[in-house]
Amino acid sequence: MDTYIGVIGGSGIYDIDGLEQAEWTTVTGPWGAPSDQILTGIYEGVKMAFLPRHGRGHVHSPSTVPYRANIDALKRLGVTDVISVSACGSFREEMAPGDFVIVDQFIDRTFAREKSFFGTGCVAHVSVAHPTCPRLSDACYTAAKDAGITVHKGGTYLAMEGPQFSSLAESKLYRENWDCDVIGMTNMPEAKLAREAELCYASVAMITDYDSWHPHHGEVDISDIIATLTGNADKGRNLVKRLPALLGAERDACPHGCDRALEYAILTAPD
Ligand code: ADE
Repeated sequence: MDTYIGVIGGSGIYDIDGLEQAEWTTVTGPWGAPSDQILTGIYEGVKMAFLPRHGRGHVHSPSTVPYRANIDALKRLGVTDVISVSACGSFREEMAPGDFVIVDQFIDRTFAREKSFFGTGCVAHVSVAHPTCPRLSDACYTAAKDAGITVHKGGTYLAMEGPQFSSLAESKLYRENWDCDVIGMTNMPEAKLAREAELCYASVAMITDYDSWHPHHGEVDISDIIATLTGNADKGRNLVKRLPALLGAERDACPHGCDRALEYAILTAPD
């Protein structure tokens, strides 16, 4: 089967350069319009699609990103491997602004978003015990290392609703009691929906700040975030461009079963 890499770019990453046959494509489906058109093309012989999560011009807030339409659009294009790239805050001294984390667990505290493709008519319960694909995550880790990025393998991401940042009490709760490593506003329900769509999903979280717990860094400030974001975005693009060579133009079935997530998940009787 052909590898088809789909990149969902977060704050600061609204396109990628260097694609052959690059074209912004409109994809429509039953879940409404995705965040934007999707940039499709070929990079080093591998098919790639890029979707700016917030839209070009950053027009969707974390709560209004059309997560279902985005995942559906990538699936419709034939994408097999989804790389989420997003900004996050850090709960760990050693995970500093400018570092990347290859996230492998989530705590989902979002509450104002559509979280499933399933509901009335067809009921399914997929497992998200291991919400990211280890094969794809390993490739992201290697790509980051090769690009000279300080990268941490594994970490728990607290997905908050936003758009406001956390209070000091929340920040301490997530860090000290819930043992989270990073915090962001966009990886959920995206990761859950990718699993429902039987897509391999990996999350590259780019640290912009220490959230509000850090005694020497004060509260989160969007101007500090933007200052770190620009450098992170260049590193993020560099990482993404190393993935085609690492993943190759062809792939087998996912050894972790991401592409078969629905096999035993649907409870509704067939017609
Ligand atoms: N994105 C970047 N920094 C963040 C933070 N501290 N909290 C939530 N989302 C973020």
